[in-house]
Amino acid sequence: MVVKIFKDNETLSNYMADELMQQLIAKPDSLICFASGNSPKRAAALFVEKAIEKNIDTTQFKFVGLDEWVGVASTTKGSCHHDFKEWIFDPLGIQPNQYHVFDGTTSDLAKACREMDEFIAQNGGIDLMIVGIGMNGHIGFNEPGVDFNQLSHVVPLDEITATVGQQYFEQSMELKYGITLGFQHLLHSQKVYLLANSSKKAEVVKRAIEGEVDRSFPASIMQQHTNGFILIDEAAASLLGS
Ligand code: F6R
Repeated sequence: MVVKIFKDNETLSNYMADELMQQLIAKPDSLICFASGNSPKRAAALFVEKAIEKNIDTTQFKFVGLDEWVGVASTTKGSCHHDFKEWIFDPLGIQPNQYHVFDGTTSDLAKACREMDEFIAQNGGIDLMIVGIGMNGHIGFNEPGVDFNQLSHVVPLDEITATVGQQYFEQSMELKYGITLGFQHLLHSQKVYLLANSSKKAEVVKRAIEGEVDRSFPASIMQQHTNGFILIDEAAASLLGS
């Protein structure tokens, strides 16, 4: 695992966007996985800008969404799918056969998990993942106590996740379950980038980097990834080494 510290979120996001560009130039049919939320938002915007400006071929690349709130429709602002559509699919003209995202409103969540795992396997595994870290150390909806051996699964949300998650929505939501890729996907992804910015992430970043690898703090799994990168700004790095 490599830790990189940047002056601010803009510099960090610019670096991430360049990494993504390099990935697609080297392998135009890469399978990319994104989290939604605040952490990867600017990187996605800069990537789209650069891809358009440099006329990068995005017709072959494949995309999977890391997770989704169960019960929340793709049309709801604040759903992960809505973010991906707004950030990436619409501006780059990504076609439905190029991506697979969880449908939070399906009546068959087990099937949704199977279909996601199949899509990833059929496309040769994930080449690059961009994830965030929650205030309880989660990645995706891999909550504290997670089993590191899982593929896609449905999970009851931790209280912190359900509370913090309200920030993404325009009205109060009932957030009880999430559907998410598992840590087997993360460990087998060729590269994983965990992005965090601002002082509110300083404590969880410290624990992810300096704490023990343990299922009680899911993001500690990054320490086990041979091609894992933690990209943080100075504010998020402020407690390291103390
Ligand atoms: C969202 C996701 C979550 C977030 C995490 C951090 O798709 O997978 O695990 O990455 O909760 O959220 P932000 O980046 O909004 O601080």
